[in-house]
Amino acid sequence: MSLKRENNYFNLVKERRSVRYYDPSITIPREEMEEILTEAALAPSSSNLQPWRFLVIDEKELKEKLHPIANNQNQVLQASAVIAVLGDMKWYEKGKEIYSQAYEAGLMTEDIKDRFIASSAMYHRLDDAKKKSIVDIDGGLVSMQLMLSAKARGYDTVPMGGFNAEKFKQEFNVPDQYETIMLIAIGKAANPGFPSVRLPLNEITFWNQII
Ligand SMILES: Cc1cc2nc3c(=O)[nH]c(=O)nc-3n(C[C@H](O)[C@H](O)[C@H](O)COP(=O)(O)O)c2cc1C
Repeated sequence: MSLKRENNYFNLVKERRSVRYYDPSITIPREEMEEILTEAALAPSSSNLQPWRFLVIDEKELKEKLHPIANNQNQVLQASAVIAVLGDMKWYEKGKEIYSQAYEAGLMTEDIKDRFIASSAMYHRLDDAKKKSIVDIDGGLVSMQLMLSAKARGYDTVPMGGFNAEKFKQEFNVPDQYETIMLIAIGKAANPGFPSVRLPLNEITFWNQII
């Protein structure tokens, strides 16, 4: 198998497309998948609390089980894996672990660590809608970084919102603590993605004031 690697950011962002046809014979080695996920997790997050969790589904039977839950989308069966990007609705509970790690690494003083730990605990008072908004925003950032990292290694992806979230939770025993932000199919393209258009910049950008 030869995968074309691309490390030029400008080419990467221009060439990434949602790919819906994959070579089903391709397996992504576990170490490479771990590298992709590790790079994805370098994404920024609110207070660096990293609310994302990944469920990597790469077993054939499980992809078959997922297929009807994901609206029978072809890529679920053909892709090497489908990654469920989950948001941990109790993400702030890892504040102590994260800031202690930063302190041990010499990245913050003990005083700052303690203040960050105290402020991370505040998130728990937010209502569920606000909590969900935070995990969705951070989950979007990690997902985009995952897709670009995959592309840099010669793999393609498609993000998917077309699935039954409730059924997914039930069938894949996802604890209530986690929300499913999106599914991302990943593998080696069998057919390229369709070209797509973008709104012109002047329709999506305001300078200094919204007119
Ligand atoms: C949150 C989200 C959900 C999406 N859901 C699906 C989906 O369920 N099935 C699918 O084929 N494409 C899905 N897409 C892909 C979009 O259709 C695609 O990104 C868009 O048409 C632009 O094309 P491009 O990704 O090739 O640039 C989704 C994209 C996003 C960001």
